[in-house]
Amino acid sequence: MTLDITDLKVTIGGREILRGVDLSLQEGRVHGLAGESGSGKTMTGLAVLGLLPHGARATGRIALGERDLLTLPPRELNKVRGGEVAMVFQDPATSLHPMLSVGRQLTEHMRHHLRLDRREARARAVELLGKVRIPGAEEAYGRFPHQFSGGMRQRIAIAIALACSPRVLIADEPTTALDVTVQAGVLRLLRGLCDELGLAVLLVTHDLGVMSAIADEVSVMKDGLVVETGPRGKVLREPSHAYTRSLLDSLPGETA
Ligand SMILES: Nc1ncnc2c1ncn2[C@@H]1O[C@H](COP(=O)(O)OP(=O)(O)O)[C@@H](O)[C@H]1O
Ligand SMILES: [Mg+2]
Repeated sequence: MTLDITDLKVTIGGREILRGVDLSLQEGRVHGLAGESGSGKTMTGLAVLGLLPHGARATGRIALGERDLLTLPPRELNKVRGGEVAMVFQDPATSLHPMLSVGRQLTEHMRHHLRLDRREARARAVELLGKVRIPGAEEAYGRFPHQFSGGMRQRIAIAIALACSPRVLIADEPTTALDVTVQAGVLRLLRGLCDELGLAVLLVTHDLGVMSAIADEVSVMKDGLVVETGPRGKVLREPSHAYTRSLLDSLPGETA
């Protein structure tokens, strides 16, 4: 399923935060979204999930297949969120509940959305923990988030995001809070899941170097607009926008 964002504008308290964003996600493709802090990357992801801050006004179109998520009734949007569209946030601490076992967090979600019974949900949870390469998935099921490293916690957050078989995954700075040594592994995992499950992935990062490793398409945001978009190789090798060039110039070492 494709997700097409057209002329998305978001206004909060009279200030235009997004000024007409166009962005397209395709099945089995990772679309990297870069841009400096405050350019509107997170707001774009939140708009897709219908999770904009209170008081925000959004216009334009966010088409998931035939449906426009901006005009979907709240009940329908609720089904889409966490179902067809899932999100992974920067800090796994914000998406994982510290007091609930990993298994419980995975299965609650599934039982609610997929109406599975306890046994089916457990089997699927263990399978998902294996899929995100948590060693000893059976044992991990009964453990609590603090018993895992940051990288493993983010893998668990990804497993939860995948629990209801989403078609679209929004990953907002998924490795920024992690140790440099484990970042690449989590990115490779996302890339692999995208290929294996045919997910349409939006990978948000302020770091062009990070996305040069795994993105198929790259878009660059500045001041609430996408100023550049295209295949990774083209954008990184022959950026047409001065702003993209300045981002690339600030990268250490070879990228594209
Ligand atoms: N809850 C909010 N209310 C009002 N403005 C906000 C809120 N959250 C973020 N903003 C503003 O929206 C703009 C875009 O923010 P954001 O999407 O978080 O940027 P990015 O993720 O690219 O760093 C910024 O100017 C930010 O100050
Ligand atoms: Mg952000």
